Amino acid sequence: MSEKLWGGRFSKTTDEMINEFQASIDFDKRMYYEDIAGSIAHATMLEKCKIISSEDKDAIIAGLKQILTDIEAGKFDFSVDLEDIHMNIEKRLTDAIGEAGGRLHTARSRNDQVALDTHLYIRREVAEIEALIIDMQAAILETAEKYKEVIMPGYTHLQRAQPILFSHHLLAYFAMLVRDFARFQGVYERADIMPLGAGALAGTTFPIDREFVAKALNFGSIYHNSLDAVSDRDYIMEFLSAASILMVHLSRLSEETILWCSREFSFIELDDAHCTGSSMMPQKKNPDVSELVRGKTGRVIGHLMAMLTVVKGLPLAYNKDLQEDKEGIFDAIDTVKFSILVYARILRGMKVKEEVTRRAVEEDFSNATDLADYLVKKGMPFRNAHSVAGKAVHIAIEKGVYLKDLTLEEYKNLSPLFEEDIHKAISPEVCVAGRNSLGGTSYEQVELQLKTARELVEAETKYYNEAASLQHLI
Ligand code: ARG
Repeated sequence: MSEKLWGGRFSKTTDEMINEFQASIDFDKRMYYEDIAGSIAHATMLEKCKIISSEDKDAIIAGLKQILTDIEAGKFDFSVDLEDIHMNIEKRLTDAIGEAGGRLHTARSRNDQVALDTHLYIRREVAEIEALIIDMQAAILETAEKYKEVIMPGYTHLQRAQPILFSHHLLAYFAMLVRDFARFQGVYERADIMPLGAGALAGTTFPIDREFVAKALNFGSIYHNSLDAVSDRDYIMEFLSAASILMVHLSRLSEETILWCSREFSFIELDDAHCTGSSMMPQKKNPDVSELVRGKTGRVIGHLMAMLTVVKGLPLAYNKDLQEDKEGIFDAIDTVKFSILVYARILRGMKVKEEVTRRAVEEDFSNATDLADYLVKKGMPFRNAHSVAGKAVHIAIEKGVYLKDLTLEEYKNLSPLFEEDIHKAISPEVCVAGRNSLGGTSYEQVELQLKTARELVEAETKYYNEAASLQHLI
C-alpha cells in the first residue's frame, strides 16, 4: 500500500475495503483536463504573488503538461490508493519533479480544488449541450420546412380536436428547446464562478490573487464567501434540473413519435436505419430509440432527486457526501448528450405520411369548431352556435357521415344562417388558414414562427460560439 499524501498523523494504513469505498478516481478522472488547467493557473498565481519561485513554477507547469500528454496517450495508471484525480496527479508530479511538486498545493485544499474542477467541467459540458440543442432545433426547422403545409389533427385528451399544420406542432418542440437553451445559459452562469482560494473552508493565510486565477481560467466572476465556495452545489442541482426538463421534452416527443409510427396512427414512417426488429416476430419494426429516450428520462430525473437529497441536510462547509455529486451528473451529461444527438437524427430520417394525416382530418369532426365559428361570424352568439354545431355532429354520426357530407338543406334545417359557402368554410385548408391569431396554426403564422425561430437559432449560435471559445484553458 502506498503512502497517503495526508498520512502524517496516521499510525495505520487505510483498510483496503474502506480505501476502495471512499475513492472517487474511477469517475473523477474525467476531470483531468480541468484539474491540470486549474493547477497551472494556481501555480502561475503562486509565483506571481511570490509564494513560490519561478523555477518551481516552471517545473510544475512542465510536469503538469507532461502528465496531460501521458493521460491523453493512455500512459497514466490511475491508482485507487491515491483516492481521486487531484492526488493522482499531484503524486505523479512530485514523483517526476521532486520538491517543487510538493509546493503546488500551497494555499489550496482539495475542497476548493474539486469545486474548481467541477465548475470548469460543467461549464464546458454545458457549452457542448448548447451546441447539440442548436442542432436539434435545426433538425426541427428542416423537418417543419419539409412538411410545412401538411395538415393533421391537433389533439386534446388524445382526441382529435382541431386541424393544425404538422409544422406548427413541431415548432412547439422548438419553443421548448428555446427555453431549455436559456435554462442551460443560466446553469453556465452559475458554473462560471471561481471558487479557488477558499482553501478548505476559511480562506488562506497566503497573499493569493483570486482575480488573477479567475482571469486565467476565463471565469465571469468569483465566489465572495469561502464557505459558500466549497459547499455550493446549486449549479449541479440546476444542471440536473435543466437536464431533467429537457429530457421531459424529449420524452414527450418520443411518446408522440411512438404513437405516430404505430399502425393505429400511421402518421409517420421512421427510417429503417433508426429502428430495430424482433427476434421472434418477423414483421416488427420498433421505435426503440424513442422508447429508450423516454426511459432514460427517468434516470436523469433520478439523479436530480438524488442530488437534492444529498445536499438537503448538509451542514457547512465541505462534507464527503458532496463527492456524490459526480456520478449522477456525469451520467446525466452522457444521457442528455446522446439523447439529443440521436433525436436530431430520428427527426431528419422521418417521413410524414401526408395522405394519412389528411384523411385523419377529413374523416372526423375536428372542423366542428369552425362550423360554430361560421355561425358566430354570421351573428349568432357562440353558445348557441356551439349547440347547433353539436347537433350537426350528432346528425352526421347518426348517418355515418362527416360534416362535409351534410347537404346545405340539412344545414339550413339547423339554422337559416347557413349558406352556400358552408362546405368551403369547414374544409381543412380554410380551417387552418383561418387561425391567423398571433401564434396560431395558419400558414402565415407558421411562416412567422419559422422566421423567428431562425433568428433565435442565430442568436443562440452566437452565444454558444462565445462560450465555446472560453473553454480552451491550456
Ligand atoms: N474526491 C473528493 C470529492 O470529490 C475531493 C475532495 C476531498 N476533500 C476532502 N476533504 N476529503 O469531493
